[in-house]
Amino acid sequence: MVGDRAEDGAGRTFPADFTFGAATASYQIEGAVEEDGRGPSIWDTFSHTPGKVDRGDTGDVADDHYHRLEEDLDLLQSLGLAAYRFSVSWSRVLPTGRGPVNQAGIDFYGRLVDGLLARGIQPVATLYHWDLPQALEDEGGWTVRTTAEAFREYARVLAAALGDRVHTWTTLNEPWCSAYLGYANGVHAPGRADPLAALQAAHHLNLAHGMGVQAIREALPGARCSVTLNLHVFRPVGDTGAEAVRRLDAVANRVFLGPMLQGAYPDDLKADTAAITDWSFVRADDLQQIHQPLDVLGVNYYSSNRVRLRPDDTGSVDSADAVGPSPFPGAEQVQFLPPSGPLTDMGWNIDPAGLSDLLTSLAATYPKLPLMITENGAAFPDRIGDDGVVHDEDRIDYVRRHLGALLDAIDAGADVRGYFVWSLLDNFEWALGYGKRFGIVRVDYDTLERTPKDSARWYAGVVARRALDGP
Ligand code: FCB
Repeated sequence: MVGDRAEDGAGRTFPADFTFGAATASYQIEGAVEEDGRGPSIWDTFSHTPGKVDRGDTGDVADDHYHRLEEDLDLLQSLGLAAYRFSVSWSRVLPTGRGPVNQAGIDFYGRLVDGLLARGIQPVATLYHWDLPQALEDEGGWTVRTTAEAFREYARVLAAALGDRVHTWTTLNEPWCSAYLGYANGVHAPGRADPLAALQAAHHLNLAHGMGVQAIREALPGARCSVTLNLHVFRPVGDTGAEAVRRLDAVANRVFLGPMLQGAYPDDLKADTAAITDWSFVRADDLQQIHQPLDVLGVNYYSSNRVRLRPDDTGSVDSADAVGPSPFPGAEQVQFLPPSGPLTDMGWNIDPAGLSDLLTSLAATYPKLPLMITENGAAFPDRIGDDGVVHDEDRIDYVRRHLGALLDAIDAGADVRGYFVWSLLDNFEWALGYGKRFGIVRVDYDTLERTPKDSARWYAGVVARRALDGP
């Protein structure tokens, strides 16, 4: 079933207080990596390591957002968006991860937040979207607890500097990617391939989240706090499908949801990973620290995967996410079946029903927790028309159907408060560099000129009407 319920969107309306926005992340758009005192991050190191990023692309210039801040803020305003989700570059604020504050870095984010507020746009700030200060990686990165402690200091600095001008604080973006693509599979920075390191990283990211929320609330009582998870939707295939889903759900989803929302790691996860670790890196009061009340849970959703157990245990993975060592420690025996098309330019399937299924199941498990889609969107091989504009019907169709699925979930009782399209701008798509374009606004990487695609105009129309149109 591929989103049948969502096909007919015409006229369906969004709740009056529903928030529409767009999302970006610091390393993907800012550029200016050596300016005004910014320190290096693991993505600077990784992208400058030959062979790690397609075509040797780096974030050195990216969209040059650092220098084009006002223009990009105007763009957000011209689309009529109510909120903007951005991330802060940790090493711009604290060049070596802790210690002396770089005032120029603080000032940049101050201008960003003030510029948003001046345009009537809510700032939604993510503290960590994967660009760990290199100095902290040199001390062990997310495999060591001192990185979580440094994150607490960083959260304190930002809360004091930006204060109540930030509408919603998000501690982490997609810790699954940080822990498993970064430390188990190695396709992302810092490029390590060690399942034990990855599970330690998952725990210390959880701890950083809990410490970060506490630090923000200490500085700003009443601050709205959240985390963004890329919760995976797995579709079981055949007799072993249910067991495959259980294992993956444990290591990919419940490893974060459990401690953050229920104060415990799942027993089945500990059993599945027993050959890798006894989890003795979890200290007595860690779970209490991680388990903090949240105001909203951010959910990123792009696609789903069909899975079963493989008969032989080769420990490799052939999912669309990664080739190489499995990014699912303890679930190496799971096999990802090839996605069925049509596919996006990432090779990901298009399954809007996966979004409504995910939201309704979250609403059933955590009935009091408001939800927000903090990323959803698609890369397609954009072609520029004779008029100089990208006519991206495929992206419009993708977003329309996912908004329809979101409305399905609301109809079914899920408390979904908003939607942020990924992304405002074409940008540095991590290991895939600039080859994959997710923007609703095109960026010409030679001139850095921004040109709204048809999808930007279409999205602005949905936002203005607060209603979907038909296909
Ligand atoms: C998500 C990331 C985001 C972007 C999209 C396509 O996993 O959070 O930075 O790369 O995927």
